[in-house]
Amino acid sequence: MVEPGKTYVVMGLLDHDSIAYAIGRTIESLGGKVIYTVQNERMKNLFIDSRRSKMTDEERAALNIRFCDITIQDEVVALFRDIGPIRGVVHSIAFANPKTCLGPEFHTDAIEDIKLAHHISCISLATVTRQAQAALQGGGSIVAMTFDTSHVFPFYNWMGVQKAALEALVRGLARRHGRDNIRINAISAGPLATMAATKIPGFGEMANVWNQASPLVWDPVADKQAVAEAVVFLLGNYSRKITGQVLHVDGGASIIGGSLLPHERPTPAT
Ligand SMILES: NC(=O)c1ccc[n+]([C@@H]2O[C@H](COP(=O)([O-])OP(=O)(O)OC[C@H]3O[C@@H](n4cnc5c(N)ncnc54)[C@H](O)[C@@H]3O)[C@@H](O)[C@H]2O)c1
Repeated sequence: MVEPGKTYVVMGLLDHDSIAYAIGRTIESLGGKVIYTVQNERMKNLFIDSRRSKMTDEERAALNIRFCDITIQDEVVALFRDIGPIRGVVHSIAFANPKTCLGPEFHTDAIEDIKLAHHISCISLATVTRQAQAALQGGGSIVAMTFDTSHVFPFYNWMGVQKAALEALVRGLARRHGRDNIRINAISAGPLATMAATKIPGFGEMANVWNQASPLVWDPVADKQAVAEAVVFLLGNYSRKITGQVLHVDGGASIIGGSLLPHERPTPAT
């Protein structure tokens, strides 16, 4: 559980479908305070516009949203310098050019695109951890978002490479920051319906592959909440001796060899 009244930074808000938004709402529902980050002002306006009809003026005024482009070191430094003490950070950020890094062909000449994907989707977790350290007074928890790296999926190509590197980074950071009482873990989520997911060519096929393999029913819309609750577990005291780990919240699909046989398939709730 998060600590009521304490502040958590949730990075990677784009729209109301973002995993970051589900995480932030869950933290708030448990009494925590949330500072969201968006990449830039345009994206903040997009978010507010997409929620306009669903939010009261009061709710809109209460939203604490900062800008932070994760590739600009000064913006990350300024964010954590100005926010006061925090208890945790969620890194829910990734990007890879869908035209070059994702798709039917794995090979690409777009090396700069791969480098940018690596900066945004992996290296940035180290930048955030380093800059957040002073604000995580007395320790805290950092959670990143990953996707099954033990299998190779169609279309996911160079993002799969970034996620494998991110998981290695989680372990490296956990070793480095144990002495600061800062824990770093990742949640490996099954496919969820978000803007980033729709940019992955063949995402629908990936979701189908998931359903063929998942011992528990996996719902790409409703199960965002289960993912958010697992993030909250890793942010809070119940996970206080867990660091450097990847926790799979994916219906169990990542442990299955091949597909489930027909008699093994779960029955969706009616
Ligand atoms: N949706 C899924 O199926 C799924 C599954 C497993 C893991 N994940 C991971 O969850 C995380 C959140 O993705 P999502 O699905 O909520 O999609 P999303 O598109 O809502 O979130 C991605 C976020 O990354 C941000 N971002 C990209 N470049 C940035 C930059 N330079 N600076 C700052 N922010 C930047 C975007 O603005 C956006 O807010 C990602 O790490 C993603 O890989 C997603």
